[in-house]
Amino acid sequence: MTVKQITQNKKQFLDLLLLGDEQENMIDHYLEQGDMFALYDEDLKAVCVVVHVDNDICELKNIAVYQQFHRQGYGKKLISHISKFYENKYKTMLVGTGETPSALSFYRQCGFELSHRIKNFFTDNYNHLMFEEGVQLVDMIYLKKDLK
Ligand SMILES: CC(C)(COP(=O)(O)OP(=O)(O)OC[C@H]1O[C@@H](n2cnc3c(N)ncnc32)[C@H](O)[C@@H]1OP(=O)(O)O)[C@@H](O)C(=O)NCCC(=O)NCCS
Repeated sequence: MTVKQITQNKKQFLDLLLLGDEQENMIDHYLEQGDMFALYDEDLKAVCVVVHVDNDICELKNIAVYQQFHRQGYGKKLISHISKFYENKYKTMLVGTGETPSALSFYRQCGFELSHRIKNFFTDNYNHLMFEEGVQLVDMIYLKKDLK
């Protein structure tokens, strides 16, 4: 299994990125300035994008594993890789998600804990109502992980 940093033609991974963030123009806001990582296990399994927030903080903006490979540890391995990659650069990694039990459970398993919430983020910023696992996404829930 290898993780490569992708610096060019990041849009080639749009199919995966849309699993993590369903509106392309929202992805365009962070894709160019973000660091992209792709996990290969024989072939491509997962990608993620991380952006600089300030000198102490980076933010995971998107992570996605191909549906047929969920629950095989690829997401957790990618988080572990980027946590090591940034441990000497930032103190904290943030991630924002909808209030979806499976996402919250995944991030907790990867060492994140609850940080704060942004009220109405999904209803204010996306051009359509969003549902995951039958629940409408309204607030953005932020979780944080210490990298040091
Ligand atoms: C979220 C996502 C990246 C997780 O990746 P993954 O490779 O399936 O997750 P892992 O196999 O590494 O899971 C690690 C642990 O997280 C937890 N977890 C992962 N998916 C879960 C789910 N759907 N429900 C509950 N817990 C879950 C489990 O504890 C799991 O360990 P276990 O399988 O031994 O019980 C993947 O489901 C995905 O790509 N989803 C679509 C895109 C997306 O929603 N991105 C993030 C949104 S904020």
